[in-house]
Amino acid sequence: MVRFEQVGLSYPAHGPGPLAPVLYDLSFSVPEGGFRWLVGASGAGKTSLLRLMYLAVRPSTGRLSLLEVDIGSARRRQLAGLRRRIGVVYQDFRLLPHLSAFDNVALPLRIDGRSEGQIRADVVEMLRWVGLSGKLDSPPETLSGGEQQRVAIARAVIARPRLLLADEPTGNLDEVQAERLLRLLQELSRLGTTVIVATHNRGLVSRHDAPSLRLDHGRLVC
Ligand SMILES: Nc1ncnc2c1ncn2[C@@H]1O[C@H](COP(=O)(O)OP(=O)(O)O)[C@@H](O)[C@H]1O
Ligand SMILES: [Mg+2]
Repeated sequence: MVRFEQVGLSYPAHGPGPLAPVLYDLSFSVPEGGFRWLVGASGAGKTSLLRLMYLAVRPSTGRLSLLEVDIGSARRRQLAGLRRRIGVVYQDFRLLPHLSAFDNVALPLRIDGRSEGQIRADVVEMLRWVGLSGKLDSPPETLSGGEQQRVAIARAVIARPRLLLADEPTGNLDEVQAERLLRLLQELSRLGTTVIVATHNRGLVSRHDAPSLRLDHGRLVC
């Protein structure tokens, strides 16, 4: 489902000079429906590892396959299809500023071609679940950090992705909201979604037992 074989990642250096390696020789796999914490100090490479999995960057070395698609040999159309099956909660949310909370969350369903009637019902239900029933028409700039994070979470899970990647998704949530989010993510994984959550929140990790991918200076340590 997710398979890394000796994957390395280097970013182009700013200015002339060699590439800057940030991830080294990563080999691991996560089965369908698996739940993994992604932990490690700031700068260890967590966001870079997630970016590989949401196809924002390609491996510099090694092989990566996602949902049975080999990224190195996939056609453009295959990659586009793959992207629609991956839900992402970005660390900086990346909500579209000119769209309401409702329309931000509806976006993946519209891209999927669902009927407006079904979209309305699903989005209203999802935004109620994250406690934003009163904010359907609000643009992101009028929402608090925690509210924006909850819109981002709703958008990532609304289309039932097969792979869900979340980058510090509780950074702006209070403890009650963080626990609810964790229960949602674990429920998704029970229903077959593979879930990978990068976090600094040790309390959360200790309360929800699951295997960890631990990065230290770009290397996986077990
Ligand atoms: N676009 C980029 N270009 C060059 N270096 C980067 C880029 N993004 C991240 N890095 C570097 O990669 C390393 C890992 O960063 P990151 O993946 O964001 O770690 P984490 O999410 O664990 O804090 C850091 O040293 C960071 O400075
Ligand atoms: Mg990060």
